[in-house]
Amino acid sequence: MNVQTFRRLFLDYFRAHGHAIIGSARLIPDHDPSALFTTAGMHPLVPFLLGEPHPAGRRLANCQKCLRTNDIAEVGDDVHLTFFEMLGNWSLGDYWKAESIQFSYRFLTERMGLEPDRLYITCFAGDDTALRDDEAAEAWQALGILNERIIFLPKADNWWGPVGATGPCGPDTEMFYDMNPDGPKGESPATNPKRFWEVWNNVFMQYDQQADGRLERLPMQAVDTGLGLDRALAILQGVPSPYETDLFAPIVESIRSLASDPQPFAVRVIADHIRAATFVLAEGIRPGNVDQPYVARRLIRRAIRYGRTIGIAGHFLPDLAGTVVDLFAEAYPELEQQRQQIATALDEEESRFQRTLVHGERACARIIERRQQEGQTTLAGEEVFHLYETYGFPAELTQELAEQEGLAVDLAGFQTAYAEHQAQSQQAAAGRFRGGLAERRPETTRYHTATHLLHEALRRVLGPHVEQRGSNITVERMRFDFAHEAKLSDEEIHAVETLVNEQIERDLPVTWNEMSLEEARESGAIGLFEERYGERVKVYTIGDFSKEICGGPHVEQTGELGRFQITKEEAVGAGVRRIRAVLR
Ligand code: ALA
Repeated sequence: MNVQTFRRLFLDYFRAHGHAIIGSARLIPDHDPSALFTTAGMHPLVPFLLGEPHPAGRRLANCQKCLRTNDIAEVGDDVHLTFFEMLGNWSLGDYWKAESIQFSYRFLTERMGLEPDRLYITCFAGDDTALRDDEAAEAWQALGILNERIIFLPKADNWWGPVGATGPCGPDTEMFYDMNPDGPKGESPATNPKRFWEVWNNVFMQYDQQADGRLERLPMQAVDTGLGLDRALAILQGVPSPYETDLFAPIVESIRSLASDPQPFAVRVIADHIRAATFVLAEGIRPGNVDQPYVARRLIRRAIRYGRTIGIAGHFLPDLAGTVVDLFAEAYPELEQQRQQIATALDEEESRFQRTLVHGERACARIIERRQQEGQTTLAGEEVFHLYETYGFPAELTQELAEQEGLAVDLAGFQTAYAEHQAQSQQAAAGRFRGGLAERRPETTRYHTATHLLHEALRRVLGPHVEQRGSNITVERMRFDFAHEAKLSDEEIHAVETLVNEQIERDLPVTWNEMSLEEARESGAIGLFEERYGERVKVYTIGDFSKEICGGPHVEQTGELGRFQITKEEAVGAGVRRIRAVLR
């Protein structure tokens, strides 16, 4: 079964069971300042999991593009990936544990053809805050799963959420597949995580975690599930890892053909990273030093470094990205639209990195010379890390150059420095994910409405080619990215500001209607996120000024916004401008 058939198999199955199929949301979360990337299918659905009615109904399913970089160091093994696709189904106050478990079990065994005897299940063991999840375990028993293959584990393993410090969360039940059924008896997912692959996770959102840690029952219970497409496909195609599936094999083949010494681990890292980078660049992100641009840069430079270690010379990423686009364009047409821009961005970053390496080499040579003059025999781990951190200069290269000059390198010290840095940036990333997403504060709602006013004002002042490319809101400011070639003149900025402030002064009512996508288009609504929704969408209307497809929420009257002021206008990439603005 190829990947297209498998995606369809999943979505058709849930459609047949009354689910509306919604499109993949962008990889860069809209209106969510607390996360850099969409990390799960539930992520764009948080407002709806919190009880806001979803225009497509109470049963949803989709295939969502996701990116997680916290395990980047593990990439190259059989299971870890940065970019992946998550198949998911949701019940928003509709069915509950037993039905959700039946859906999963039937899909795994009847549609995917997995052997029931190789399935292992984990359920929440219970603790002093929440009861053991016997309801889930009983649902599995009723389907014939033997008790010995149902394992109860603590919160660390079988609990999901809340996304921030507070909000919906609950026990989950995870399904694992035994990849080595002839292996030693008595092993389980709890004792041998390499042998048992996690295939699906069903989260039962039944609690609302309070700021003091207490769990209160949620008024609306929801089910949130996630099935990793790449891993499932490897199981279906009977291959040892996602890299041998039809989703990856052509990329891996291209890399192997370029390398003089195609070490499998390095080939896999490059394959993963070029795929992820292609998707990130397709969203208009360009390599840089903070936030998403930094992640793009890191993926690209890691790929180049691994390329060097296996003897790939010259610029090779633009062609590889072309292979990624070929493989994914049918499912994600935005890749095809951005094909040329992606190639150009990669080419430029390869040149930039090349210059960086030259600088790094010089800095490395200076350090070596100094240490030799001092009569030292070893380069300290800190120094190796400094070269890595400042110039992106790989430790292996430092080692090579140092050894040529008869100096040893403290690689263990480098690893320690590196690990400390990793831990710090992970903490920072976790901090980012806390707060914001689950809390729809009034301040962010006001900015959200201001985004619609700004969008329309830009279209009126600059022209209808202006299209939203992204937005990011905190309680203090908004950021809005849009398609436009030239820098805005002072007059244009002033005109946009004035137009927005006029609408605020008019105190226009903000209303919404639910309609089909067709009706929305006919009504003249601008709709950038239409691919996220199913057939029915919400259209927000601001007086006679703006009409936009959007999930909400918004203020009731524009008078609530205060005074709108643009604080900065800049370029964020080719043909994309960014406006920062505040409400005073
Ligand atoms: N949100 C759940 C996960 O990511 C399904 O595993």
